[in-house]
Amino acid sequence: MDTRPIGIFDSGLGGLTAVRALVHAAPWESFVYLGDTKNAPYGDRSREELVALSRQNVRFLRRQGVKAILVACNTSTANAMDAMRAENPDLPVIGVIEPAAAAAVSVTETGRIGVMATAATVASGAYARAVGRLDPRAAVTAVACPKLVPLVESGRTAPEDGELRAAAAEYAAPLLAAGVDTVVLGCTHYPIIRRAIRAALRPDTALIDSGAASVGVLLKALESCGQLGDTAGTGSRRFCCTASPDTFVAVGSAFLGWDMSGATEPAAL
Ligand code: DGL
Repeated sequence: MDTRPIGIFDSGLGGLTAVRALVHAAPWESFVYLGDTKNAPYGDRSREELVALSRQNVRFLRRQGVKAILVACNTSTANAMDAMRAENPDLPVIGVIEPAAAAAVSVTETGRIGVMATAATVASGAYARAVGRLDPRAAVTAVACPKLVPLVESGRTAPEDGELRAAAAEYAAPLLAAGVDTVVLGCTHYPIIRRAIRAALRPDTALIDSGAASVGVLLKALESCGQLGDTAGTGSRRFCCTASPDTFVAVGSAFLGWDMSGATEPAAL
């Protein structure tokens, strides 16, 4: 048994989609969440910047005494996973892309898989590679969706928001044209606006939540090294963010369905 917290990070609110899945699957686990809201969005940054920010986030979480890191950010996973793993050989560092690709491959019936993600994730080609390793016959259509994260980070998450609907329709168009039956929400922010995205796609499209998919892999990794927490207890929850917590707490609490305000603190990295 290992009751140390799990460290989870994202550029902002997106990783809360993994938090929600973690709290549901393993309420006994403690965690420290870092939202690097000062530097969000990550999606238009260069690989060098993403490596530097990701390393900084991991160093912060390590100082909190974590037993594992969940990189609840596709953009960091796609661009900085090798650096994070190389520098932290003593710690499980779990990303979101391989679990989401595996979920998509297991769900698709036609082999036509869509990926909605940030520009930096799409440019990395990480999803096409991860899907190709699992099923070389699968066809991946990846669409960069740069307008979505700024909308979520500013609290524009209502499915009736005109700008959000227009952006979702724009990004769904190439996926509809490609006839995909499965779409990976390849940015952890997107499940927060799932209803707007769903409305733009064919109703029977399977949507894969990358943060939720990674939680199963994280828990299996902890279990296999005897590092699960006290399954009879209730874990502690701590949220840190690098800019003003107001919108983070408001949007995050609405998404999680519980008030995060008392558990949120500013963080200097
Ligand atoms: N939520 C992150 C991801 O999964 C980062 C989005 C961003 O900051 O652009 O890619």
